[in-house]
Amino acid sequence: MSNFSQESVLSVHHWTDSLFSFTTTRDPSFRFRSGEFTKIGLKVDEKPLLRACSLASGRYEDRLEFFSIKVPDGLLASRLQHLKEGDEIIVSRKTTGTLVIDNLEGGRNLYLIGTGTGLAPFLSVIKDPETYLRFEHVVLLHGCRRVADLAYGEMITEKLPHDELVGDFVRYQLIYYPTVTRDRFCNRGRITDLITSGKLFTDIELPELEPQHDRVMICGNPALVRDARELLVAKGFVEGDHGQPAQFAFEKEFAERNNLSSSRKKDLHGP
Ligand code: A2P
Repeated sequence: MSNFSQESVLSVHHWTDSLFSFTTTRDPSFRFRSGEFTKIGLKVDEKPLLRACSLASGRYEDRLEFFSIKVPDGLLASRLQHLKEGDEIIVSRKTTGTLVIDNLEGGRNLYLIGTGTGLAPFLSVIKDPETYLRFEHVVLLHGCRRVADLAYGEMITEKLPHDELVGDFVRYQLIYYPTVTRDRFCNRGRITDLITSGKLFTDIELPELEPQHDRVMICGNPALVRDARELLVAKGFVEGDHGQPAQFAFEKEFAERNNLSSSRKKDLHGP
């Protein structure tokens, strides 16, 4: 079997000038763990050009979904944003990533901290029944600059609670907390500040973060990842990794590949 499958684009959704999502067909033999990423790409001059992208679809869904920034430079990235229904796309069968609940010890509440497209891996995590069997509450924090950047809000609040597979879990156990820093909105401020000030816990009516009970996963803006890690370590949280479950995990790979300021980095070349 080839390391890549060829899929067709089923739909494309442009959220803003800089954010878009698309869905593709899914080879029935393609497997991944919720929270992982893979490489996707296009054939350019008969050569596959690839980039890492988190899987935003649930592992039981029959289509794949990706949520990405539009970057004007980069041979592949500039083409991906012009995808349309029916286009062919290459998807690597090799999936990886640290944002999987197996990297965490059991606990009371699971906090998923994502900014921008750092939300993507957590979309697959909140669509997985296993997540709700492991934790009492799942708190999904999505931090963005603008209200318009809060992609998937309606899917999370309107659609997912009625989902056949996870709807019951979502209604009782999922707490969605979107927050913005540069617009007026019901929740305002950086996620780290909301944790430090305690406002988050007052709003969601849960106890403050404690390493004995709570587990955290972080993905998104590199400065946020750095500051959130520091904050957790200062509270006594221990970092987890492959084969060594602990109290929090973050996606280093994501922080590097989605740093807008470093978006000039080259697209990855396929085999
Ligand atoms: P801010 O608007 O105050 O910079 P970006 O689009 O730059 O990746 O940012 C996404 C969100 O992450 C924004 O709300 C941004 O807030 C926030 N953010 C950026 N840096 C940090 C940080 N060091 N700690 C917490 N949040 C951050």
